[in-house]
Amino acid sequence: MLKFTALFVLLCAHFHVGLSITDGLLPNGNFEQGPKPSQMKGTRVTDPTAIPNWQLSGVIEYIKSGQKQGDMLLIVPEGQFAIRLGNEASIRQKLKVTKGMFYSVTFSAARTCAQEERLNVSVRPNTEAKDWGMLPMQTMYSSDGWDSYAWGFLAEASEVEVSIHNPGVEEDAACGPLLDSVAIKALPPPRRMRGNMLKNGNFEHGPYVFPNTSWGVLVPSNIEDDHCPLLGWMVESLKAVKYIDSDHFSVPEGKRAIELIAGKESAIAQVVKTTKGKVYDLTFSLGDASNLCEGSMEVEAFAGKVTLRVPYESKGKGGFKQARLRFVAVSDRTRVRFLSSFYTMKNDNSGSLCGPVIDDVKLLGVRNPN
Ligand SMILES: *[C@@H]1O[C@H](CO)[C@@H](O)[C@H](O)[C@H]1NC(C)=O
Ligand SMILES: *[C@@H]1O[C@H](CO)[C@@H](O)[C@H](O)[C@H]1NC(C)=O
Repeated sequence: MLKFTALFVLLCAHFHVGLSITDGLLPNGNFEQGPKPSQMKGTRVTDPTAIPNWQLSGVIEYIKSGQKQGDMLLIVPEGQFAIRLGNEASIRQKLKVTKGMFYSVTFSAARTCAQEERLNVSVRPNTEAKDWGMLPMQTMYSSDGWDSYAWGFLAEASEVEVSIHNPGVEEDAACGPLLDSVAIKALPPPRRMRGNMLKNGNFEHGPYVFPNTSWGVLVPSNIEDDHCPLLGWMVESLKAVKYIDSDHFSVPEGKRAIELIAGKESAIAQVVKTTKGKVYDLTFSLGDASNLCEGSMEVEAFAGKVTLRVPYESKGKGGFKQARLRFVAVSDRTRVRFLSSFYTMKNDNSGSLCGPVIDDVKLLGVRNPN
């Protein structure tokens, strides 16, 4: 009997794991399964349950790749279909998750009009009031209009509902962002590794990156730290940083790194416990992502009150170097921070912003400084 119970518990545990969602696209996360013709009026979806796995509200259009808007050809990043979220429209999907686990949501979106556009990502249940991520889409970083964005949340229940909402109210009903490819990834808390006082110093723990997109994932600023999908880090200041992968970019170490794409307007930071008066070394790699981002770059590293400026000459073809900032801690908490001194643009006339890559950030106490 005892044996039987043990087996049963084991089976249950296994079954439970099997039930929660796996990393990657959500069911019909790329909207390839769409409405029946009877559930549409022109491009507009008339039935809130017409797109399998999703619950719709407000004015939503079902967009086919190659469809025209005025004289603009609409491109879809994955497959043949995407959706457009009109004024105040939203889509929602319920997911089985592991309660207490941190998840990141990644999706691809494109602006279609000149106006500023934003998307509001949220999850329910949520014990905090007014707890959502407002992701701005006013600047495009990729060459073809589409970018991927990420946001994170802690699952407060074993079933959650993720919602993506366009809070905009445009005069032109044909405006509103296009949305495609919604994915999720479970992110176990990063452990501090031996030989590094920083968490996730090599940026390996971060949001899902679509294997078929070559533009990385924007990790926005202006979201609460507990929704930052770049575990251990915060994105400070006004603009996003870009999470890049070694399949599509040149990365100094491992599979992931950060590209500082918005000059002094975007920075990443981490606060770490230090001992006042003790000497520390902050070391890191800086380079270029091999994405036609050419020119004189400079990374500014800050640790407490000390700053180091490290120049890097980029040919846009990949490569990196290492740098070290030695400092004396002035308090029991030190903020480590990185930003790019300049704006850089790709040399392909696309006007896309780009910048230096940082990776492999380590902080260690120095035993015998002199
Ligand atoms: C963001 O979305 C959530 C869920 O749909 C909603 O409750 C909230 O009011 C929205 N926030 C804004 C500012 O539109
Ligand atoms: C990536 O693209 C290939 C070829 O177009 C396709 O077969 C595959 O399903 C795509 N993978 C994902 C995750 O979208």
